Amino acid sequence: MTQSLAQLETPADLADYTWPEIVPPKDDTLLASRQLCKVIGTNLSNQSLVLKGLDLDIHRGEFVSIVGASGSGKSSLLYLLGGLDRPTHGEISINNQPLSTMPDATLTAVRNQTVGFVFQFHFLLPEFTSLENIMIPMQKMGVRSRRECSDHAAELLTTVGLGDKAHRRTTDLSGGEQQRVAIARALANDPDILLADEPTGNLDKHNSQNVARLFEEIAAQGQRTILMVTHDPHMAEHAHRIITLDDGRIVEDHRHTKKAL
Ligand SMILES: Nc1ncnc2c1ncn2[C@@H]1O[C@H](COP(=O)(O)OP(=O)(O)OP(=O)(O)O)[C@@H](O)[C@H]1O
Ligand SMILES: [Mg+2]
Repeated sequence: MTQSLAQLETPADLADYTWPEIVPPKDDTLLASRQLCKVIGTNLSNQSLVLKGLDLDIHRGEFVSIVGASGSGKSSLLYLLGGLDRPTHGEISINNQPLSTMPDATLTAVRNQTVGFVFQFHFLLPEFTSLENIMIPMQKMGVRSRRECSDHAAELLTTVGLGDKAHRRTTDLSGGEQQRVAIARALANDPDILLADEPTGNLDKHNSQNVARLFEEIAAQGQRTILMVTHDPHMAEHAHRIITLDDGRIVEDHRHTKKAL
């Protein structure tokens, strides 16, 4: 019999555990999880409980780093919070809208309007230019005209310091430049939330610093909330708050004063 959350270790424990009633997040919470659990694996022999009842509240304008050992559940958490995956148990809400009750099509629409993703491997389309890569998600939304998409994409490229490389194919950019295009693309639809999974995992120190600086600038504008998964303690320290995961649980969550770059 699983008596307490601390005893929750395996998918079988999940079936045994009696959960208390979910306490909803406060009205001003942008992104929240309650009792968040995720079982990963396709069959009983390889299934594991990778997130073990996480409660988390993120507020508008916060810049949060998520750190922890490899396999601690950082990417799983990020994908769930961004609505790319669904929890096994528990609830996620964005702007106080619970995601669990949303049909897939509604979830996709909320995600497209609210969340921008930056991945470790940028997944830019090599046959297109920087500008076109940023225009594509905007055109998919169908809100802006082609001209407006192009103008906004050019502005975003200027923001990430690549105004002069708009018409370069992304294969003709350096790794750091490609990652900055990916960040601009994540901002294309003006998301409230920017989620980044190891955005500097493939970059050298100089380019990592550039990306860190860019995130700091975005955070300083106060409009966007940033959650960044990183292995790199120097990167993590650019955030205002650092959450540490260990084996699917939050073991530390502290605010800190940023170091100057
Ligand atoms: N497709 C899968 N099948 C089985 N287990 C998986 C699968 N994907 C992830 N896992 C397991 O889930 C756990 C959490 O993985 P996750 O990718 O969230 O960790 P992480 O903290 O992001 O690690 P890293 O720092 O290496 O990226 C790990 O133990 C991993 O082995
Ligand atoms: Mg990961």
